[in-house]
Amino acid sequence: MHDWNWKTIIEPFKIKCVEPLGFTDRPERECVLRDAGFNLFNVPADKILIDLLTDSGTSAMSGEQWGGIMRGDESYAGARSFYAFERAVRELTGLREVIPVHQGRAAERILFSILGGPGKTVIANTHFDTTRANVEVSGAEAVDLPAAGALRFDKPGPFKGDIDTAALEAKIREKGRENVPLVVMTVTNNSLGGQPVSMRNLRETAEICRFHKIPLFLDCARFAENAYFIKLREPGYAGRSVREIAREMFSYVDGCMMSAKKDAFVNIGGFFAVNDKALARRAREILIIGEGFSTYGGLAGRDLEAMAIGLGEILEEEYLQYRIRSIEYLGEGLRRHGVPIVEPPGGHGVYVDAKRFLDHIAPERYPGQALVCELYLTGGIRSCEIGSLMFGRRGKDGAFEPAPMELVRLAVPRRVYTQSHIDFVVEVFGDIASRAKSLKGMRLLEASEVLSHFTARLAPEA
Ligand code: F0G
Repeated sequence: MHDWNWKTIIEPFKIKCVEPLGFTDRPERECVLRDAGFNLFNVPADKILIDLLTDSGTSAMSGEQWGGIMRGDESYAGARSFYAFERAVRELTGLREVIPVHQGRAAERILFSILGGPGKTVIANTHFDTTRANVEVSGAEAVDLPAAGALRFDKPGPFKGDIDTAALEAKIREKGRENVPLVVMTVTNNSLGGQPVSMRNLRETAEICRFHKIPLFLDCARFAENAYFIKLREPGYAGRSVREIAREMFSYVDGCMMSAKKDAFVNIGGFFAVNDKALARRAREILIIGEGFSTYGGLAGRDLEAMAIGLGEILEEEYLQYRIRSIEYLGEGLRRHGVPIVEPPGGHGVYVDAKRFLDHIAPERYPGQALVCELYLTGGIRSCEIGSLMFGRRGKDGAFEPAPMELVRLAVPRRVYTQSHIDFVVEVFGDIASRAKSLKGMRLLEASEVLSHFTARLAPEA
């Protein structure tokens, strides 16, 4: 770690290769949005100026990683790149059986097709949407038990990603330990604001799981951001390296699944790692049918090489200091304009509380999506709704059941945007905040049953 005593935390990289941004004018954006059914997933990326849709697969890879792409070994079986990748995952996690997959949800599909099924209950601090979908598609039930206070978005706390351990204990007793095939801890907790999980909570959860003989898995897409928050916020960790902290996190679990498109800086890739040899054998059988042979799992050798390098780079503390500070900076800008956000800002983005920001728009009129559309119309900014469009349901009687939150996530790609891009986003928010009460809600025209937000079509209210 360097001895940085300056107030300004600078981007710890310089730029060698650039891409143009998609400048458009307002009439063009109006047209684009209408054609897209007011769903930003349908907007071509070259019509976007600042893309905060996701931090997934959108990172800028380093020169080292691009070098690795050239060195990648494309042998069908036993490629050198696989062994480099396997070594990196084993060193980080301490888990022996390492299975590559093309991205996180492939690991979820494989895992829950083995451990899920009707009558089973999977418990998590909060399931990410694809995780929940894969649990439910297997016939199992997905239960979220976030710690008290996680849904109090205006009230900051150091570890709002924690699981409610008392509720976990009670739920296991209610369902019967034989019906709970695993407990999942998502680090950081993406769906509730990118908030971290404390080491203490992870340790206590591991004790509960061990007592009931239930495996504990980490959904570790953003493990390094979580580990850095532990260093900053948890007593006893300030003097430890982030690598040590990450190793300790993994020491409490029986397995992990990772979308490497986040904290490994790659554009595609993921893995699944366990110690249980029998589980790994079954997973490899499914892998070979759907993804590929067990030493490439739906990836090219070069992708494995880039992942191995990225898993090392993500633990560089200059990077993590800049990363967490730059997200906080965006949060400070929004607060200055009175925009309510999930407090404190998360590890990979800032989440705007659209329920409070646009409190004149009812949940069934999708306040989050209304803001998502306005951000695009005003500034060409793409963001993502995490609210009733993503999680709202129709009950058996056809009545609308809103999501517990109406958030808009501004997810920041890693090493991609500079401070002036973020200043621009803040300026656009200032403009929208000055006329927030004039924004109108949305009507849902069509949506599929599962993961409906990807394909939904909407229209603005008259
Ligand atoms: N788990 C978490 C916590 C995630 O955030 C994601 C993806 C996945 C699993 C699934 O991984 O996309 O590689 O299949 N999150 C992205 C996002 C899509 O925008 O937050 P994947």
